Amino acid sequence: MILPLFSMDKEILLGALEKVKYPGFSRDIVSFGLVREASCENGVAVVTLELTSSDSTVPAQLKRETEEALSSVDGVKAVEVSVVVKKSKGSNSNQSSKTDEGGGTSSRPLPEVKYIVAIASGKGGVGKSTVAVNLACAFDKLLREQNEPYHGVGIMDCDVYGPSVPLLIGASERPEVIGENLIQPAENFGVKVISMGLLVDEDVPVVWRGPMVMKTIQQFTANVAWGKLDIMLIDLPPGTGDAQLSLAQTLPLNGAVIVTTPQKAAVDVARRGARMFEKVSVPLLGVVENMSFLLDEETGTKRYLFGKGGGPATAEALKTPFLGEIALDERIRLGGDNGIPVVVSNADGPAGKSIRNIAEKLWGILTAD
Ligand SMILES: Nc1ncnc2c1ncn2[C@@H]1O[C@H](COP(=O)(O)OP(=O)(O)O)[C@@H](O)[C@H]1O
Ligand SMILES: [Mg+2]
Repeated sequence: MILPLFSMDKEILLGALEKVKYPGFSRDIVSFGLVREASCENGVAVVTLELTSSDSTVPAQLKRETEEALSSVDGVKAVEVSVVVKKSKGSNSNQSSKTDEGGGTSSRPLPEVKYIVAIASGKGGVGKSTVAVNLACAFDKLLREQNEPYHGVGIMDCDVYGPSVPLLIGASERPEVIGENLIQPAENFGVKVISMGLLVDEDVPVVWRGPMVMKTIQQFTANVAWGKLDIMLIDLPPGTGDAQLSLAQTLPLNGAVIVTTPQKAAVDVARRGARMFEKVSVPLLGVVENMSFLLDEETGTKRYLFGKGGGPATAEALKTPFLGEIALDERIRLGGDNGIPVVVSNADGPAGKSIRNIAEKLWGILTAD
């Protein structure tokens, strides 16, 4: 019979919290899924935020701004805001004991996937998806050859604006529905694939896809029968913004690989993109330079059309390894157009070999302890 004097609608609180932007990003804390709890009884608003961040000023800033936003709500007399900082997976694969509190490992998403790696770039058109697809196929071969139990490789295409993975890897069949909330990923060349390109018609306007990044990542995580995988690569939309944060909040990333071309303009945005990962404490695993040079196969000379050294300089500036360069090679483009990645069709050619080397290096970094 004793009703609270005043129990406020959660929607009203969330409406106020939607005004709080994550520092450095254009999106708000509600749409990023950071609000764990929001209630108000008898004029006391209680809100808990949960986030991943290596930047120690972020929790304090969010707490302050959240308190301000709540105080301006009619009927709120006092506010209690707590901010829980989760550690991201990248740092915890090596130091499990320290980082398990808070999130808890048993409930981590994709528990059967050993390594989760984001492939990112600042700009579009640098060959990020091409690199992701070729690396995935290279990992399949590499891991099959190793003397260890092999489970598989997956690629999650989170580029909702321009999902190109299905075309690049020659997967086009619609994923089979195998349960009320579960679909089977497509598969080609030993690589399991999920992508908006397999699920929606190409003419869904881009403005409808924008707000879907977070939701898409969540559904691709929870509602796809990935099974056991050794490694999953995530192809992100180009850009230096919200997708990185959404991804870092949703998945326990081991780290990110930055793809750039050698030009100064590309290198600058690549650095900015990489810094976004640092902000959400996702480790950088290395830099790949794509379209580095034209190879004259008769003489073996390399012509650095777009300038030389952009990739290694980016790696150095970001204090992360340089994983290797990939030539500008018509066979790479044709492989993409035909849906047969060059590491499959021409594994022993120069492009195939350089991508294989990058996969080996990256695997070495992931498995090093
Ligand atoms: N090393 C390369 N040599 C030749 N063409 C390439 C190379 N890398 C990518 N491409 C081509 O460039 C275009 C853009 O590549 P894509 O992987 O879609 O870029 P992003 O995902 O960064 O937007 C594609 O047509 C692809 O085939
Ligand atoms: Mg792409």
